[in-house]
Amino acid sequence: MATEQSYIMIKPDGVQRGLVGEIIKRFEQRGYTLKGLKLINVDRALAEKHYEDLSARPFFGALVEYICSGPVCAMVWEGKNIVAAGRTMIGATNPQASAPGTIRGDYSIEVGRNIIHGSDSVESATREIGLWFPEGITSWTPVAKPWIYE
Ligand code: PPS
Repeated sequence: MATEQSYIMIKPDGVQRGLVGEIIKRFEQRGYTLKGLKLINVDRALAEKHYEDLSARPFFGALVEYICSGPVCAMVWEGKNIVAAGRTMIGATNPQASAPGTIRGDYSIEVGRNIIHGSDSVESATREIGLWFPEGITSWTPVAKPWIYE
């Protein structure tokens, strides 16, 4: 049964540019299930915690500023292989290396404005979902499931 989950976040530039609907549409149409969704202004502590593994990188300060610069759309998506498949749908970290047809390849140009985040492993997804949705996520099963999974 497909129960893997990923933390997917539309960053402030994606929200400001009106890409929330387009991005949600891509995940929905692929067949993934939306399990958590909220629009939030991110405080510095949460941004620093989310990216704590990158704290020694030269771009860390700019990355935290960027994530705190406006509301983000925080989401949990569920489905078979969603972590890896979500990263494929999102495209490479640097939009210049992202193929057309990927979210970054279609909608972004610079790594510091790459519009979306997706968990890079199942372990990261568990940590990130706990961090961004401490209140928990919605439990439901879509009726379309037998039409998506054999
Ligand atoms: S790296 O360089 O291998 O650590 O990169 P990666 O693991 O793919 O990226 C980790 C997150 O850092 C962001 N990133 C940057 N932000 C701003 N400026 C620069 N130069 C930069 N390089 C990497 C990148 O978008 C990743 O963020 P998320 O939100 O996980 O996509």
